[in-house]
Amino acid sequence: MLRSLFVALAVSAVFAGVPSNEETKRLMDHLSDVEHFKNEHHNKQFDHDAFLGEDQAKTFDQLPPEESKRRLGVIVDKIDTDKDGFVTPVELKDWIRYTQKRYIDEDVDRHWRQHNPNNEESITWDAYRKNVYGFLDEMDQKEFKSPDSEGFAYSALLKRDRRRWHYADADQNEALNKTEFAAFLHPEDYPGMNTVVVLETLEDIDKDKDGKISLEEYIGDMYKPEDGEEGEEPDWVKQEREQFTGYRDTDKDGYMDEGEVKEWIAPPEFDHAEAEARHLVFEADSDADEKLTKAEILDKYDLFVGSQATDFGEALARHDEF
Ligand SMILES: *[C@@H]1O[C@H](CO)[C@@H](O)[C@H](O)[C@H]1NC(C)=O
Repeated sequence: MLRSLFVALAVSAVFAGVPSNEETKRLMDHLSDVEHFKNEHHNKQFDHDAFLGEDQAKTFDQLPPEESKRRLGVIVDKIDTDKDGFVTPVELKDWIRYTQKRYIDEDVDRHWRQHNPNNEESITWDAYRKNVYGFLDEMDQKEFKSPDSEGFAYSALLKRDRRRWHYADADQNEALNKTEFAAFLHPEDYPGMNTVVVLETLEDIDKDKDGKISLEEYIGDMYKPEDGEEGEEPDWVKQEREQFTGYRDTDKDGYMDEGEVKEWIAPPEFDHAEAEARHLVFEADSDADEKLTKAEILDKYDLFVGSQATDFGEALARHDEF
């Protein structure tokens, strides 16, 4: 569980501080592009995205609670593949894998059609660049100098995309076929893209651009004190400091380098779907028998799916925090 928390925090950081229009935003996290725990506040949207896939999760958010619950009941019957009346962690994990794959396949199809309307075998870098970043050619070069300017931010994204394109381009012919393009769009799902995912994460957290992550950069990425609470740090932040010093910085030089970042965000045996399945079972398992009945799931329905009501509730909760 803890690990998935750190991974969720790390990967969502990739987007911090850059323009995020639909075209340039990338999903670096397996299950959702929202943070699972923000300053230790449990974000159920992460679970909804993981459980339903992002598109379906949005659909549920529009439904009245009764309809949302009814559809969840139908899904529960599908998840319980051996029909014994229980949803086990394994069944839940398989379901999460299935919805994530469905979401990614649909997402790749959508982008593929958009960038390649004639459905040719591959997309060239030139065509992709023109399509997404062509507007930069018309901008005044002065626009690119100031680090706060849009031009500066977009040319950084262009560079990042160019490098990621290179890693996705398995046969190095400068053009991506559909498999390669899928790796470009969803690198976290392609082990061959590990290196570039690690680089992007490192660069994003490494604010002073010295090529490594200091303790302050590591903490600064996950914790931003709100106005008026600059004094004492919450306990979880202190624990994070100990995590960094005790575990993440394995060679004890005070920094996380590329290899250490890799161990952190892409530990070899880590399974996102399994971790999320365990989390959901733990949260909803009222009688603690390590499997869920339909009643237990429907009882905690707002953990699994959204609805107009939970949306409203979360809006209120967010409001309370400020
Ligand atoms: C795309 O090219 C790669 C080799 O670079 C190949 O392994 C893969 O099967 C190709 N995919 C399609 C859809 O043609």
